[in-house]
Amino acid sequence: MFSRNVARQASSIARRGFASSARAERKVAVLGAGGGIGQPMSLLLKADPLVTSLSLYDVRGAPGVAADVSHVNTASEVKGFEKDDIKSALTGAEIVVIPAGVPRKPGMTRDDLFNTNASIVQTLAEACAEYCPKAFICIISNPVNSTVPIFAEVYKNKGVYDEKRIFGVTTLDVVRSSKFLAEIKGVDPKDVKVTVVGGHSGVTIVPLLSQTPQGKDVTGEQYKALVKRIQFGGDEVVQAKAGAGSATLSMGFAGARFTNSLIRALNGEKGVIEPTFVKSPVYASEGVEYFATNVELGPNGAEKILPIGEVSAEEEELLKACIAELPKNIKKGVEFVKSA
Ligand code: NAI
Repeated sequence: MFSRNVARQASSIARRGFASSARAERKVAVLGAGGGIGQPMSLLLKADPLVTSLSLYDVRGAPGVAADVSHVNTASEVKGFEKDDIKSALTGAEIVVIPAGVPRKPGMTRDDLFNTNASIVQTLAEACAEYCPKAFICIISNPVNSTVPIFAEVYKNKGVYDEKRIFGVTTLDVVRSSKFLAEIKGVDPKDVKVTVVGGHSGVTIVPLLSQTPQGKDVTGEQYKALVKRIQFGGDEVVQAKAGAGSATLSMGFAGARFTNSLIRALNGEKGVIEPTFVKSPVYASEGVEYFATNVELGPNGAEKILPIGEVSAEEEELLKACIAELPKNIKKGVEFVKSA
């Protein structure tokens, strides 16, 4: 059942969602490819005609995943690497997608993962700085609000930092917003685009429902419930999985979608815009160094950081709560590297 659904999803993505433009050699490395997110995401990347080469790395299990995925009859080649062979995995990679690390269990917040995942992300950043310093980095490992600053600090220390090339993947919040709002309105989610700004955990996730035609008339208790569901949608999955992990399949989908957008932009397609958590001027004057907004992607990565735009009174309040929390998460990441 699982494999049938993924195959159907993969082929439908290949047909519709992941439209192709110019052909170019695009090597994508996945770090953490053996995990709950890594496996379905690798499958979806294999189904994406824009990915020409896939390099799957994990401390364990990636060669098996690579062997399996490599039988899918699309043109890209797939190689698997494990343990100390990260150099071979990263050499020549243009895009590195990182879902390595431990996921949440019921009752945990994303910040509870900090101690374990901070060291993993730091180690992987050191390897990327050495073996593919110009690659575009898409960080999925939580807490994203802290792991993105960790990655950036390692790159600064190594003298290879380019703020346009490091992205925190917040696409799952965008995907959830679209789906949950579409459910309320009884419409097809493909027609519902919601911009989500801020960060990627709890109250730092700020959906700008007032900016979408389907969202602007959602009010009162229904509005509050929808915002809460978007902010804490991950908890629904963690609870339903009852100790067996957090969102993996929907995250695999979201990670593959973000990667596809990035490749389309690298290939020269104009107007590719995705919300993503990046080094940002939007709230820099208030001490918030990183912030997710709509970002126009291009051949250099984060080409243009777009403004938040007009927001409702409710969204102003959500942004206040976000801004009160986010700098603490960012500081924690920065200090982790500085104190090491
Ligand atoms: P998982 O435990 O199923 O897989 C993680 C994989 O990382 C494992 O295969 C493990 O061997 C590997 N790994 C650990 N240390 C590594 C290292 N140093 N190098 C390479 N691989 C390493 O976990 P899952 O469910 O795939 O989640 C991964 C991360 O993604 C978690 O931190 C989770 O919180 C996060 N996540 C992020 C989301 C987002 O929206 N950004 C959504 C859902 C999860």
